[in-house]
Amino acid sequence: ELTPVVPSGRGPLLERRAARLLRQLLELVSQRGEIVPVSGFRTQGEQEKLWADSLRDNGEEFTRSYVALPGCSEHQTGLALDINTASRSAHFETTATYRWLIENCWRYGFILRFPQGKEALTGYLFEPWHYRYVGKEAAQEIQSENVCLEEYLEKT
Ligand code: DAL
Ligand code: ZN
Repeated sequence: ELTPVVPSGRGPLLERRAARLLRQLLELVSQRGEIVPVSGFRTQGEQEKLWADSLRDNGEEFTRSYVALPGCSEHQTGLALDINTASRSAHFETTATYRWLIENCWRYGFILRFPQGKEALTGYLFEPWHYRYVGKEAAQEIQSENVCLEEYLEKT
């Protein structure tokens, strides 16, 4: 069941269990106002538009390395979200917020889904803004073993 990630009801939607944990994470950092979910659940139509816009603006090679084919995006499951930006040029990876997230998001069941160095396994280039809910148990193991979701799933 899709539910708003912030209590005001505005902003992105996520599956209920992912939204609940994300709210806990946001409460911890909300005073500093650093973490703003910018994209959560997407419909097929929304992913189609993203894909088409990127194809038009950035070409096919770039688009395939950053945007999932419509029907194949985990945003369409309601378990993934983009934080603060979805742009490479923002260099979110240089911020304290990014460092906090990669050190702490697993405590809330989230993982950095497309890490640097795992491009060949995930099929996507590094996306410092994209986090995926996998549950606390999987997130802890993925964090402690420094693996990506593909490696984790292969092993289990
Ligand atoms: N940017 C990720 C890969 C997506 O479109 O789902
Ligand atoms: Zn994303």
